[in-house]
Amino acid sequence: MRIILVGYGVVGKGVSTILASRYTEKCRDFGFNPKIVAIADIDGAVINHRGIKPEKLEALKKVRPVSSDPEIGYPNMSALDVIEEVEAEVVVEVTPVNIKTGEPAMSHVTKAFKTGKHVVTTNKGPLALAMPALTELAEYNNVYLRFSGTVGGGTPMLEFAKRCLAGDRILGIRGILNGTTNYILSEMSQNRISFQEALATAQKLGYAEREPSMDIDGFDTACKVVILANWIMNRKITLKDLNIKGIRDISLQELDEASKRGNTVKLIGSIDGNTPTVKQMEIPKNNPLCVSGVLNAVTFSTEFAGEQTLVGRGAGGVETASAVLRDLLDIRHKLANRY
Ligand code: HSE
Repeated sequence: MRIILVGYGVVGKGVSTILASRYTEKCRDFGFNPKIVAIADIDGAVINHRGIKPEKLEALKKVRPVSSDPEIGYPNMSALDVIEEVEAEVVVEVTPVNIKTGEPAMSHVTKAFKTGKHVVTTNKGPLALAMPALTELAEYNNVYLRFSGTVGGGTPMLEFAKRCLAGDRILGIRGILNGTTNYILSEMSQNRISFQEALATAQKLGYAEREPSMDIDGFDTACKVVILANWIMNRKITLKDLNIKGIRDISLQELDEASKRGNTVKLIGSIDGNTPTVKQMEIPKNNPLCVSGVLNAVTFSTEFAGEQTLVGRGAGGVETASAVLRDLLDIRHKLANRY
């Protein structure tokens, strides 16, 4: 399987590391033979049509920008040109999230489809803005779109619901889907500090962005709700169909009052029969959803099997990269059974 990697930040480097280091094992266990034939970022690309060797992938991690590599570098070659011109089966799209336009990921994904390439992405932007249209476009072009790493990082929340609960009917989903806000709320209640102090610590530890609106205003959670709603509950919605309220205005007093009632306050994304929402909610402290720190948790309410809760790390470079590998294996499996 020839792969074009678009985006070479934390997740992109994680994908390259995992593919290089687990190569032999995956070949042995799954007959899976991944070859990264190109890496493209905002400055240009590196290309080797026969596959960049694992040792070279390791060495490239220190080259900045990666396209300045003297042997296989193509400075200024755009990712769109790479997707158009380099022969490959799959584009792995891991560029930064943009929920206003979805770009540049939106163009990368649609270009991949139109040139007959499957897509694995960890980028929530295009999906949050246009998931129903993108899934249709993938079907029209007879290619697969996979996005396991967009929800739950390395924790297989989408697969768990789609595959393990396939014999049941999922009636509702509720989740703590953003590690940064969960960290802030946990710190506030455990250490009795203000929202601003907890946010500053989250920024110092590298959890929250310097401009943290995506996390604290609930948009990151909302993107994940859109993806869960489309993929698991077949609801053809986008970001504009949600009610979204973050935790920017939360006070210590609100947390204290919830605590007196045996509850804790969490930022919850939920999907049931009504408008999908993101808002702070009180959860009993003994509810399995009630995880602390940067952990994520999601509860699927099913018709027959009752409530099923999955807990895990929702972010991180190698964690999310492991979801990319899972998607690549899924595509490999689907292609093997296609004809
Ligand atoms: N910023 C996100 C979080 C990680 O804090 O959970 C990526 O989805």
